[in-house]
Amino acid sequence: MRTKIIAGNWKMNKTLEEGQALVTEIRGIVRDEHTGKSQVVLCPPFISLASAARLLEGTGIALGAQNCHFEDSGAFTGEISPLMVKSTGAQYVIIGHSERRQYFGETGEMLFKKTKAAIRHGLKVIFCVGESLKEREEKIFFKVVESQLQEGLFALDRKEFSSVVIAYEPVWAIGTGLTATPEQAQEMHNYIRKVIGMHYTEEIAEETTILYGGSMKPDNAAGLMAQADIDGGLIGGAALKARDFADIIKAVG
Ligand code: 13P
Repeated sequence: MRTKIIAGNWKMNKTLEEGQALVTEIRGIVRDEHTGKSQVVLCPPFISLASAARLLEGTGIALGAQNCHFEDSGAFTGEISPLMVKSTGAQYVIIGHSERRQYFGETGEMLFKKTKAAIRHGLKVIFCVGESLKEREEKIFFKVVESQLQEGLFALDRKEFSSVVIAYEPVWAIGTGLTATPEQAQEMHNYIRKVIGMHYTEEIAEETTILYGGSMKPDNAAGLMAQADIDGGLIGGAALKARDFADIIKAVG
């Protein structure tokens, strides 16, 4: 059985104080309502990681960063290393989000280095892939996603790859209110699993958790989760409201 994951990507939202309040609220609802069958992961900004780790101790809720550098330390002003992320108590890191690729020029080569470094430090990587609207319209979305997987991940060995969770986030569905239909998402998730099977093994492909991200909300989560190859969600906007996030967790099960 694959691990189901619901991860909240807070992006650049919440001050330290606001972040603590949101973690506390989510912690309370999850304690009261969650079946514990899926893994909940909160990914606040770097400034909130250490305090969130303390608030989440003993709750079963995991913590992740939204990015990291590939070196352990050094003269890289403004950057945070995977070693530093790990030292906060976080267990996950998101790598290759489309906003990082688009606004910060992150390339496949950089993302591979980041992924490899994060895994070396014992972090689990939520690796994001997804096509733009133009690429969907031009019907090259399978090719685009396959090359993102190829460049960012496929030089990992099998053991390293077992620390990877994939998140399929069509760029046209992020923050737009447009969601991929369950069928569109399933088609891509199934394709991703096939490609993993070809590069590693069928068994590894079967065990890989593949999340959907892009305007996932309480009212569309169940439809997406009903698909055979969708194993959870990477939630942006709706992860900033404790009630909505908890309702998505419920839909995931
Ligand atoms: P939204 O849920 O706000 O569309 O964001 C999705 C996302 O980018 C999560 O990483």
